[in-house]
Amino acid sequence: MVNRLASLLKQALEGEPDEAAITAEAEAWIAHTRLHFKRENELMLEYGFPAYPVHSGEHERVLALLEERYQAWMTNHSAEPFAAFLFEDWKDWFEAHVNTMDNITAQFIIQRGGA
Ligand SMILES: [Fe+2]
Repeated sequence: MVNRLASLLKQALEGEPDEAAITAEAEAWIAHTRLHFKRENELMLEYGFPAYPVHSGEHERVLALLEERYQAWMTNHSAEPFAAFLFEDWKDWFEAHVNTMDNITAQFIIQRGGA
C-alpha cells in the first residue's frame, strides 16, 4: 500500500502526476493505518500491557501527523512535501516504531499466551 503510494508520488515528481490516484491511495493508507493501530490498541488493553498510554499515544500522534499531511496534499496537491514525508519521516518512524514499541508489545503479549 505504501509502495503503491510511493510509486505514484515518484511518478508525480517526474512530472506525470495522477492526483486522483494519489488521493485514493492516501485515503486507503490512512484508513488501513487507523484500523491497524486500533487493533494493536485493543490487544494491548486485552492483555493489560503496562505501557499502553505511551504506545497508543504514539499511534495517536502519528495518525494526527498523517491526517495533517493528507490535508496539506488535498489543499495544494503538491507532491514534493508529501513524498518527503513518506520517504523520510514515515519510513524512519515506522522502522523505529516496529523495532521498539511493537516488538516489546508483541513479546509481552506472547509471554501471556496471546498470538
Ligand atoms: Fe504500534
